[in-house]
Order: sequence, then C-alpha cells, then structure tokens
Amino acid sequence: MSSADTIPARNFPVSAQAPGKCILFGEHAVVHGCPELVLAIDLTTQVFVRGAPSSSLNSDPNAGTANPYFRVALEVAWPDGKPIEVRSITRIPRAAGLGSSGAFVSALAAALGARTGGIARSQLAQRAFEIERGAQGVGSPGDTSASVAGGYVALNGGPGEPLWTVRAPEGRWEVRRVEDPRWVWVVAYSGVPRATADAVRAVGERVRRPDGPALLAQFAEVARSGIAAVGRGDRVETAELLRRNQELLREAGVSHPRVEALLAAAAPVAEAAKITGAGAGGSIVALPKPGREAELVRTLARAGALPFAVRCESEGASLVEAPTTE
Ligand code: MEV
Repeated sequence: MSSADTIPARNFPVSAQAPGKCILFGEHAVVHGCPELVLAIDLTTQVFVRGAPSSSLNSDPNAGTANPYFRVALEVAWPDGKPIEVRSITRIPRAAGLGSSGAFVSALAAALGARTGGIARSQLAQRAFEIERGAQGVGSPGDTSASVAGGYVALNGGPGEPLWTVRAPEGRWEVRRVEDPRWVWVVAYSGVPRATADAVRAVGERVRRPDGPALLAQFAEVARSGIAAVGRGDRVETAELLRRNQELLREAGVSHPRVEALLAAAAPVAEAAKITGAGAGGSIVALPKPGREAELVRTLARAGALPFAVRCESEGASLVEAPTTE
C-alpha cells in the first residue's frame, strides 16, 4: 500500500487536516442511491490533538457530550478512551452546505487513526462516514469521501478509477475518481443556516410520494451526465446540467427565497448556478463566465452573501507537521 493510500502511525501530539466540499450534482438523491458528483475545495479544517488530563474540544470540557460530531468520533475512532484535548481551526463556514462537519470528522478520524497505528484511506472513508452519519442520523458518504479523498469524486457513477465502497445498513455507495477539469468555482453562503438532517428527512418524505421515483430518476440522469461532462471538461454541457439540477432541487422543495435571490444575482456573471448541499438556505455554487470570477464574487457579496472563489483541493485528509513548541 502506498503512503497516499494510508494515514501513517504517529504519536501525540498529532495534527491533521481535511478539505470541505462542494456538491455539483445529485445532492439528496445520493441518499437514495443515485449518483452524485462532489469536489473537495481549498477551504480546509485542521485539528490538533494531544493527550490531556480531561477531554475537551476548543477548550469546551462538555463537548464530549454536547457536540454530537465530537461525541461520536470518540466512540467510533478512539477505543482507547483516554482523555484528549482537540483544537480545531477552519475556514469553512458552519451549517452552510460546504462540508464543515465532514472535514472536521475526517481530520479528527485521521489524527486518531494515526495515533492508533495508522489507517488505510478506504477505512478512514468508512469511519468518517460512520461518525458523520452517527451524529446526524441520516445521510450519504459523499461529503466525507470528498474530504478523505480530495479532488473530484463520483458516487454510484462514472468510469473513473474506483477508490472504495462505503457501506451502511440500508445500502452501499461506490466511490470513484473523476478527472479535475481545473475550473474555478464560486461558492457563496446565503447566511441562512440549515440543518442537513431536517432537509434530508423532508426530501425523504417528498420522494415517498407517488411521483418520487420519477423525480429520483431525473436526478440520477442529470448527475450521470454531469459526471461525464465535468470529466471531459465540457463547460457548456456542465452549465446546462447544473441548471437542470437546480430545477430538480426546487421540485424537491429545498430552495429558499434568499438562495433564489443569490441565483438571480449570479445569473448575468455565471454560466450557471445552483444550490450546493442540503439547501433550505445554505450555499450556492456557480460556474463563473470565463475571466469574470472576481466580478462574480463582488456581485454575490453585494447581494449579501459570503462568497469564495474556490479551486479543487487535490489533497484529501492528511497529517500535518505538529508544532515543535506549544
Ligand atoms: C449534504 O451535504 C448532502 C446531502 O445529499 C446529504 C448527504 O448526502 O448526506 C443533502
């Protein structure tokens, strides 16, 4: 196994990082087994972990019970059970649809996996998913797989190199690599926080209606075509499919007036834009018109959003050099 396939063993103190994510095609439908395309973005979370007299997260001694992601991470990834102090720093806005929880649990599971003898990347992908899913109660492994793998990844679709299969009691997701077309994307947080689990449950209700299977089939078809279009670097086709995916997300009931206002503001400067992630608030992703990335960022800021021009982050979860002095 190459070092890229493994997080190596490391003693405390150990520091690890993982990227956030942006979903281009297939959010929500992926929970029901449809294809999804997601990319790791160059907004990252870093954790620093060491042994301590009592456990804490960012100096909060109650986080081991009060923060579900930290609590489940300790249950799943820290069988030793000895107290640990964790500090985390992130550039990813929280509850914004940009993968802050997936990045946090992936970085923390990588750090704890290193301390427990090292961990294969495929196993880390499964573990990070189990932590996020345990904390949220619902969901797919798209976010955590992008954080663990880096780059562009497809779930349940595409011809690319297979990375791993993630399993849950109700199903499994095949995760594959997709070629990076090296595009700049603009993501923008609407300022309306959203609860992924609530949005996922609402869409679950929606797809149980009689026309639900037909709606899922359209999501699947758009995502399958989107994976192919991005993989061959076809911007025109990608833009058309992003617009179609947004119509399906509206139909699934996860748009929001603030999000619609941002999509309208982006339209003159973007080839296409859509919700990214759970929706019901959260963020949008836009494919800027060539050379107009900065203008799109300014436009979305003027419209009241928190925008970022992002590139694909090719490096997934990894250890970083711990500081020599504390
Ligand atoms: C959340 O980032 C993406 C959803 O598809 C939920 C999931 O896949 O876990 C809405």
